[in-house]
Amino acid sequence: MQATVQTKTQIKTAVITAAGFGTRFLPVSKAVPKEMLALIDKPVIQYAVDQAVEAGIERIILITSEGKEAMEAYFHILPKLEEALQNRNSPKLAEVQRVSRMAEIIPVIQELPLGLGHAVLCAKEAVGNEPFIVYLPDEILLGEPSATRQMIDSFARLGTSVIGVKQVPAEDVGRYGVVAGEPVSGNEIRLSHTVEKPKPAEAPSDLAIFGPYVFTPEIFDCLENITPGAGGELQLTDAIDMLAKRTPVHACRLDVHRYDAGTPLGLLETAVELALQRPDYADDVKAWIKDLAQRLD
Ligand code: G1P
Repeated sequence: MQATVQTKTQIKTAVITAAGFGTRFLPVSKAVPKEMLALIDKPVIQYAVDQAVEAGIERIILITSEGKEAMEAYFHILPKLEEALQNRNSPKLAEVQRVSRMAEIIPVIQELPLGLGHAVLCAKEAVGNEPFIVYLPDEILLGEPSATRQMIDSFARLGTSVIGVKQVPAEDVGRYGVVAGEPVSGNEIRLSHTVEKPKPAEAPSDLAIFGPYVFTPEIFDCLENITPGAGGELQLTDAIDMLAKRTPVHACRLDVHRYDAGTPLGLLETAVELALQRPDYADDVKAWIKDLAQRLD
């Protein structure tokens, strides 16, 4: 009996959706996937992978598309590089080795840009019949415990799919998936419905979806049955709405600070904020910002 309970609540698989064109970052994203752009010295995608691995996840299914091979290459072992770093006693060796061995990376190509719902459906076969967590890699969510641990904890207690949400200013709701429902605890809500990019006046709440999402495999049947929604795309939010009408689904209000690495300005802000949190950069960056502030009018 114990074994069954464990399998039901343990999450070993993550899906990272990273197949988009990265239009907001053109022209750089012609050749560099937006998920590979640097936050100081780490690519954006590394934040989701680090958090997943720290929480015990072992397999990462990377939903990717043609031309974005740099993402999977980043996780490959490079013996010549490691040898060279070893010979130079480089302090970078440990991190280079860690990144290449931290998890099993399984790339899955999304052939057509049909939407986030379709991207997650592409992972169906690789996920199999077990619960899994989905990351939107542009969303850098930092907290203690991590967003991933908060989500896994909710899932372990509630035993249902759980969606990571955060309150946003009412005028911003139209940019996100929005959830509605009844609170079941201080930070958890049982969902009645979800809407993708509602008109602000019609939004059912100010709780926006940022992920991560923990799903039971039932989500795949919903993903197979949704029709194009907002923007003509197959929306993950519409599949969640369908799932919530069949079986209990919860949202978890995450206690995290959110950084948006999905736009050029957001990436710049995120990089500066993260540099201020890094002991090896903080002093220099603070001094630079003070100097810069004096030069601005
Ligand atoms: C996607 C999701 C949306 C979510 C948002 C968070 O939208 O469809 O539900 O709130 O990410 O960033 P996109 O930003 O791809 O339009």
